[in-house]
Amino acid sequence: MRDVIITGGSRGLGLEFTKQFLKNGHRIFTGSRFPKNSKELDHVKNEYGENLKIYQLDVSREESRHEFYLRVLEKTNKIDILINNAGIISGDEKSILLFGELNQELLSKILLVNSISPLMMTEKFFPLLKRGKEPVIVNITSSNGSIALRKQKGKYGYCSSKAALNMITKILSYELKDTGIVVIALHPGWVKTSMTANEDAPMLPNESISGMIKVIKSLKMEDSGKFLDWEGKELPW
Ligand SMILES: NC(=O)c1ccc[n+]([C@@H]2O[C@H](COP(=O)([O-])OP(=O)(O)OC[C@H]3O[C@@H](n4cnc5c(N)ncnc54)[C@H](OP(=O)(O)O)[C@@H]3O)[C@@H](O)[C@H]2O)c1
Repeated sequence: MRDVIITGGSRGLGLEFTKQFLKNGHRIFTGSRFPKNSKELDHVKNEYGENLKIYQLDVSREESRHEFYLRVLEKTNKIDILINNAGIISGDEKSILLFGELNQELLSKILLVNSISPLMMTEKFFPLLKRGKEPVIVNITSSNGSIALRKQKGKYGYCSSKAALNMITKILSYELKDTGIVVIALHPGWVKTSMTANEDAPMLPNESISGMIKVIKSLKMEDSGKFLDWEGKELPW
């Protein structure tokens, strides 16, 4: 059994990560801003009981991260896997933010949630990760964060937030080199969730998550700092 933190477990990919890790016998600590609104998470809790801990967490707020940390610490003094999954497509989760209509506050919010918060979560849980068994940090990024693959305009906030998260992952891999902690940036593929509700995403969460879990299980120290997709393929930066 491994102790796993999954941010943004109330729906979409985080919820599916939670279900599949539980099915594999692991203990999950998950959090989101509104976990009480997630009926699905309640159903999962009914099935798995004590192996699933659901706490309130806004990854972008320092006090909330600290409160979450204290709740986790009541149950364990080590974490084996940290999945920084919580993310937003837009500062208010709906505005498209086209050039000519940009909004500084909404752009900053995307960078805060998608790039800075995973770094702050990592720093917060570093003492527990150091005590983990073959510890892994997974930053859920996107192929939209690849500068090499970018061939079109738009999505300034989201794409740059994931490019920044990729850079943070690379730097962390050097920072944590001597601790035995592996850190990767992992792209889930294009998956049907509330984030992609207006798009024609071809994959279901179940397929993406089983692929990503396979990748996570196969990780070795030499993989630290890599930018991989849900099938384990390396993506260009
Ligand atoms: N779907 C795709 O095709 C795709 C592709 C590439 C990358 N991704 C990445 O995959 C991750 C999950 O995306 P998804 O598609 O599952 O999106 P989603 O269905 O919109 O779910 C986002 C999750 O993040 C949580 N969240 C948002 N802001 C938060 C905050 N400040 N603090 C804590 N939790 C927060 C939400 O919970 P609450 O609303 O309850 O807070 C929700 O559980 C994101 O990082 C996204 O960028 C997705």
